[in-house]
Amino acid sequence: MTDGRARGREKTYLQRMPSSQSEWDAKHRLAADDSTAEPAGILCELLPLLPPGAALDLACDTGRNALFLAEHGRHVTAVDWSGAALEILEARARTKNLSTRRIRGLPDVKRSAHAGIDLVQADLERMELPEGRFDLILNIRYLQRSLFPQIGRALRANGMLLFETYTQAQLDFCGGPKNPAYLLKAGELREAFPELQVLFYRELHAGEGIASLAARKPGGKGRGQNGH
Ligand SMILES: C[S@@+](CC[C@H](N)C(=O)[O-])C[C@H]1O[C@@H](n2cnc3c(N)ncnc32)[C@H](O)[C@@H]1O
Repeated sequence: MTDGRARGREKTYLQRMPSSQSEWDAKHRLAADDSTAEPAGILCELLPLLPPGAALDLACDTGRNALFLAEHGRHVTAVDWSGAALEILEARARTKNLSTRRIRGLPDVKRSAHAGIDLVQADLERMELPEGRFDLILNIRYLQRSLFPQIGRALRANGMLLFETYTQAQLDFCGGPKNPAYLLKAGELREAFPELQVLFYRELHAGEGIASLAARKPGGKGRGQNGH
């Protein structure tokens, strides 16, 4: 997966867990000058296997994963409730000559062949993901169990989910959430999306406690390379 240094940077970046929107804003402003945030290792490693088409990044933070996908020619819709995080993402996108635009909500999302990032500032606890709209969904270091069934429905046939976040094993290590509501139980992620076909699953208890899943939505006929 990632090398030791990259994983160390990921951990430093995510060490303390705020719990409210204003706390997240404050944390993001403090980290605004940290340009070292690497994309998630699972995303880098599986990039060649990801289906083309519309991508959704849930709880995108300051955009390490959305920016990485856009740099690789993908159109991404990125959602986070923190205005500070999205402003930092926009600034980082400008330095990389990537286009961003603010949109009001996910139903506005249009299929786009262009690389770039649509930003949605919204509380994921209060929004409904549109059905059959995305070819790739990323859910990295964020746990909201009420999204599980919505994520399955929001994928198009042949679409892929990449999901990676802390398990209760993280309590043995520094950093990460302490509230069990934000920690996966052992084996939970493997069973969380019964409608999807598991392509890859792993739980680590080494340096951090983390579960990783890549899963595909079956059904539909094969599509062309451009995703249409
Ligand atoms: C640990 S970070 C996510 C990390 C990010 N996915 C990544 O891999 O870099 C958690 C993010 O979730 C956002 N967040 C927390 N609760 C949220 C909610 N209810 N709705 C939308 N965003 C939320 C925070 O603002 C923060 O940016």
